[in-house]
Amino acid sequence: MALLKIARLGNPILRQNACSVDLENLRGEPAAELHQFIDDLIETMHHEGGVGIAAPQVGKSIQIVIAEYLGSDRYPDQDDIPLTVLINPVITKWGGSTQSFWEGCLSLTDLRGLVTRPDEVTVEAFDRNGEPVKIEAQGFYAIVLQHEIDHLQGKVFLDRMTDLTQLSYGEEFETYWLEDDKQPVEI
Ligand code: NI
Repeated sequence: MALLKIARLGNPILRQNACSVDLENLRGEPAAELHQFIDDLIETMHHEGGVGIAAPQVGKSIQIVIAEYLGSDRYPDQDDIPLTVLINPVITKWGGSTQSFWEGCLSLTDLRGLVTRPDEVTVEAFDRNGEPVKIEAQGFYAIVLQHEIDHLQGKVFLDRMTDLTQLSYGEEFETYWLEDDKQPVEI
């Protein structure tokens, strides 16, 4: 296991479309390498305290995202997210109403921005063994998946903000914008 270096805003890799993963590479010989990378990505997400991470964020422009949130004091109102590893994910349906979260990002150190997104999505992808999976996510889970899948298309949460005047550093966020019902989320 190894911790991977986080690519931060300004690194062009964050603005590229990530390549799809050849599913054959999840099986057989090259598999060991890819599985090791997935394990390292999970470990890096845990180490950085994120609830999600995408491969381009560690300098690898391929379509893999991870999400996990197991209840803590940090976001007490949020439901758990089981450890989710998605290869070549595609959002095939958006639904429900919309929900606003103060998002953060491991690649945008200390910044917070209010983003409004649909609060239900269906994601079709493959798991780490190359088997097809379909996830119908709601609420926090849906928000996190949209944030991570955006990374595969060269987008960061700034691109989804409708009012950039609210973009804040952590300390200013807590001073001027924090409301009890709008927990910041380091995605
Ligand atoms: Ni992010």
